[in-house]
Amino acid sequence: MHRVNVGLAGFGTVGSGTYGVSTRNAELIAQRAGVELAVTRVVCRNVEAARSAVGPEVQISEDWHDIVNDPTIGIAVELMGGIEPARSYVMACIEAGKHVVTANKALLAAHGNEIFAAAQAKGVHVGFEASVAGGIPIIKVLRQGLVANRIEWLAGIINGTCNFILSKMRDEGVAFDETLALAQKLGYAEADPTFDIEGYDAAHKLTILASLAFGVPIDTSATYVEGITKLDSVDIVWAEELGYRLKLLGIARRTDAGIETRVHPTLVPSSALLANVEGVMNAVVVNGDALGTSLYYGRGAGSDPTASAVVADLTEVAQRMTCGCVDNPNFSNTQTARLPMAETVSQYYIRLVLDNADVIDAIKARFAAAGVNLQAVHQRPADDASVAVVVMTDTARECDVQAVLKAIADKAHVAAVLRREDFS
Ligand code: HSE
Repeated sequence: MHRVNVGLAGFGTVGSGTYGVSTRNAELIAQRAGVELAVTRVVCRNVEAARSAVGPEVQISEDWHDIVNDPTIGIAVELMGGIEPARSYVMACIEAGKHVVTANKALLAAHGNEIFAAAQAKGVHVGFEASVAGGIPIIKVLRQGLVANRIEWLAGIINGTCNFILSKMRDEGVAFDETLALAQKLGYAEADPTFDIEGYDAAHKLTILASLAFGVPIDTSATYVEGITKLDSVDIVWAEELGYRLKLLGIARRTDAGIETRVHPTLVPSSALLANVEGVMNAVVVNGDALGTSLYYGRGAGSDPTASAVVADLTEVAQRMTCGCVDNPNFSNTQTARLPMAETVSQYYIRLVLDNADVIDAIKARFAAAGVNLQAVHQRPADDASVAVVVMTDTARECDVQAVLKAIADKAHVAAVLRREDFS
């Protein structure tokens, strides 16, 4: 049987999981794929810890050049995370004619165009299934399973940390800061959680998905990003009472005026599939013209779930090596226009705090003057003498809503602005 040697750079949670899954299920993978995968080299910072976790046949060192310079290695895995030295390592492996598998969404979001172009020129394959939504094979869904479809939109819960925090805030009615502390204690949030809670991690993943779905170059700067740090649990409770759940969504949509990509807290109807994705779980809904809407659900992080995606890539690359056919994504679509956030349309939940209820009619009139139709205005009990009001708009342009919010500033304090979407 054809055997492919693999070099692993990075032996943390995902690296050790990749070694574990690929050795534990080696026979099964070989039977199914007709190729044998053998991790022969590990590069990591803690050599001693790796030594106790791998077999004696595996060489271990601290210098990633050892993988680049090993001619017996056919596939180089990058699980170091971060931009450097991950980028230098990946580019050097490609230059050395090695196929690459990476789980690094930050690297691909920043340097994906360069990496895929270099791989294509060199005739090697870059696998990146684990970079988005952990173990859910969403990259293969977009590149293979739905290849016959014109993708119209996709929407996903693609950051488990944020979904855990939002689920807990709703279930237990606790504030954001307290829930974040719990997530850190349970190991669901990093000591420095900025990247997750400010939405950047989801934005990187969404950018990769959008490029695959619409064939446009990777451009993270074109994605609107709003995290969950400013959310007030009162909006989670009130949204629930109105039949909605709050989720941090990554949304990518094809429109006549360009492709929109945005990450922000979103109200989704409680009955929608996405609304019922709880805790650290991830899910992506994709709409294609042939299949219609389909949902992909599973674990978006963790050792074995992410390793499942890494090893799937290793297996695919090993099979491709036997036929000599590489297949890197093609981002050559000429429709590269991006829709500015101001031009996007959504329905809105707007919470206002008023000194008294007499101004409600004047506020309604200003919405009407800006062409923003209202579906409902709900008056809510407030803690003090003020009046709390939730305005539910019809579909409106972001720039029109922002204009109204300015226009009513003399009459109301705008306490929350949340977008509402229905991706059933
Ligand atoms: N911090 C990420 C998440 C890990 O919470 O989804 C997986 O990318």
